[in-house]
Amino acid sequence: MNTSVLPRHVAIIMDGNGRWAKQRHLPRVMGHKAGADSVREAVKKCIEKNIEVLTLFAFSSENWQRPLAEINYLMQLFVSALQREAKKLHKQNIQLRIIGDRSRFDEKLQKQMSKAEELTAKNTGLKLVIAANYGGQWDVAEAVKKIAHDVEQGKLSSQDITPDLIQTNLALADLPLPDLFIRTSGEQRISNFMIWQLAYSELYFTDALWPDFDGQEFEKALLAFSQRERRFGRTSEQLNVADASSSG
Ligand code: IPE
Ligand code: IPE
Ligand code: MG
Repeated sequence: MNTSVLPRHVAIIMDGNGRWAKQRHLPRVMGHKAGADSVREAVKKCIEKNIEVLTLFAFSSENWQRPLAEINYLMQLFVSALQREAKKLHKQNIQLRIIGDRSRFDEKLQKQMSKAEELTAKNTGLKLVIAANYGGQWDVAEAVKKIAHDVEQGKLSSQDITPDLIQTNLALADLPLPDLFIRTSGEQRISNFMIWQLAYSELYFTDALWPDFDGQEFEKALLAFSQRERRFGRTSEQLNVADASSSG
């Protein structure tokens, strides 16, 4: 077992805020507020461990189906978090990126998103990706749309369409694919997160609710990851032969 193996990219579905609040007889939105602290903890841990990319699912394309008051609270939370944190992220050399369909957010929020991205664009530290109004199926559809456009323009032929070409047109195409996927709160589903990019990620599910997911919980996930054998279709024996020849 090699406990020094760390993921380059960790992608997290931050779930369980509502149940955390319910346990405390608080309104659901208090769970979202508490969840913001776990975001800071996760960022801190990634910096400490030199992880290159942290992607956080903050709002799914399906979350518009929630009660309006909850949606409004979440939007307010995004606005105030961006206002408060953008400069702090910049100071920590973090590059912030937001993926998802922004057109449905109000203009003020869209502007803040672009401003925070511009401010941090040249930073060389942790890449922090926030998935907001994001859906994996939307991401694939956008990629297909771009490719279809190039086919219409005669720049590509249908024969050129390969998995690699689709991948290069997806969100985060320039970054390593997620090595480790984490979902909190005991749910074991992908919920339309990065359906393409997760094809070979190691999946880690924990019962911890997102507001309770602290640095120690993050360490547990990293430890579990280090104990996995990533075979990518090969046999275990093949991997061990490759290991022995590279180390010796
Ligand atoms: C995740 O927590 C946060 C968002 C989806 C925005 P939930 O709000 O889904 O919490 P539960 O699943 O109801 O406990
Ligand atoms: C997924 O959580 C989306 C985010 C964490 C932002 P949900 O709690 O909305 O997922 P489902 O609908 O229960 O699968
Ligand atoms: Mg949930």
